[in-house]
Amino acid sequence: MATERTLSIIKPDATRRNLTGKINAKFEDAGLRIVAQKRIQLTKAQAEKFYAVHSARPFFGELTEFMASGPVVVQVLEGEGAVLKNREVMGATNPKDAAPGTIRAEFAESVGENSVHGSDAPETAAEEIAFFFSGLELVG
Ligand code: CMP
Repeated sequence: MATERTLSIIKPDATRRNLTGKINAKFEDAGLRIVAQKRIQLTKAQAEKFYAVHSARPFFGELTEFMASGPVVVQVLEGEGAVLKNREVMGATNPKDAAPGTIRAEFAESVGENSVHGSDAPETAAEEIAFFFSGLELVG
């Protein structure tokens, strides 16, 4: 499988509970390398732009308000099959469905406040990485 990069976001529910290190350990233990990382606070407008694909969903307002409610850690993870591997490490969107040992099973509070975001495909990963990072900030 090819080496890939994927975008990850540690969400406000997790930064609030000081879980950045524990979540990063899950990525690194799975063989994913954190090749870029920064802690920022999104504005509501920035969150709306990032999640524009969900703009027609009933939870769009709740989602974007939550994502702007506190600091997030945006990061680029690199590794073999990184997009899929990260999705495995995160677990299902709804923590009730997440497999034991996954980030969402251990840390997520609800389907909305689910601790992490990860790109769903290599094409979206490229777009999402470019949303937050310049090429100079990616150090593999
Ligand atoms: P994420 O991977 O960041 O992509 C879109 C997000 O929408 C998803 O994780 C969930 O956190 C959120 N989401 C999905 N369904 C719901 C819902 N029913 N209510 C609130 N948020 C949701």
